[in-house]
Amino acid sequence: MSTAMSFDEDMTRRVVDLYTTPDVVAQREATLEILDPQVGERVLDVGSGPGFLAAGIASRVGESGAVFGVDVSEPMIAHARGLEAAPGAATMTFGLGDATALGFHDQSFDAVVSTQVFEYVPDIGTALTEVHRVLVPGGRVLILDTDWDSLVWHTSDRERHGRVMSAWQEHLADAWLPRTLTRRLESAALAVERQDVLVLHNPSFDPRSFSAGVMQLIANFVPGRRGVTEEDASAWLADLQALGAGGEYFFSVNRYLFLARRI
Ligand SMILES: C[S@@+](CC[C@H](N)C(=O)[O-])C[C@H]1O[C@@H](n2cnc3c(N)ncnc32)[C@H](O)[C@@H]1O
Repeated sequence: MSTAMSFDEDMTRRVVDLYTTPDVVAQREATLEILDPQVGERVLDVGSGPGFLAAGIASRVGESGAVFGVDVSEPMIAHARGLEAAPGAATMTFGLGDATALGFHDQSFDAVVSTQVFEYVPDIGTALTEVHRVLVPGGRVLILDTDWDSLVWHTSDRERHGRVMSAWQEHLADAWLPRTLTRRLESAALAVERQDVLVLHNPSFDPRSFSAGVMQLIANFVPGRRGVTEEDASAWLADLQALGAGGEYFFSVNRYLFLARRI
């Protein structure tokens, strides 16, 4: 089950653009360092999206390992299947699947990773029970999600900005998941070993940055939600672009990373 955000072909193209910006590439590298995939491991990426993280994992676990990705979006799966395998990388297998009903046997994986996905899943309890089930005892899970209250975005109209960001919350099942995730992981018998904050920080405007891409997604998504009009969304976007052009741009948002181990 997913939320109001539909990962159709257009959104898949937009996510591919967004996830190849230097910001998100650096976040993915940091995520890989913390997951620390080992040669020969079997790893599952839940909500694998365009497949970039799975490809990074496949390079690290090598030919003796295996990487699987599941996602509810057919265009995302199609993109991931089109990725070129690096020499010596593990075989990657992508298929349609939901985080709340993983189609794998018990204890199939050494590690599970899920970045920017659980915030879209209404039934986190079931999703975490599934993670626990498919992990080997002692296996690890890495989960990364945004808390949108951590957003700092310079605007000329704070009232309009507040309404736009309130409407943007509707693209997620839980826009503040990280603050409750430790308790939820522990309830699913997944012991949290490490937490990190990965900051997406754009202190000046750059068209190839996370915030330049996400502002377009937001402007497309919010009209008609929580009283936000097309005019509000256009004016909000134009204001950010004008601040960028005038050298007054500032954006920062936090993503929170949890590394837990199956008890
Ligand atoms: C923002 S993208 C993140 C993609 C990828 N994890 C990454 O970090 O590059 C969110 C992805 O989660 C997928 N998704 C949303 N709800 C899901 C669910 N219940 N089960 C599996 N995938 C889901 C979407 O289709 C989309 O590909």
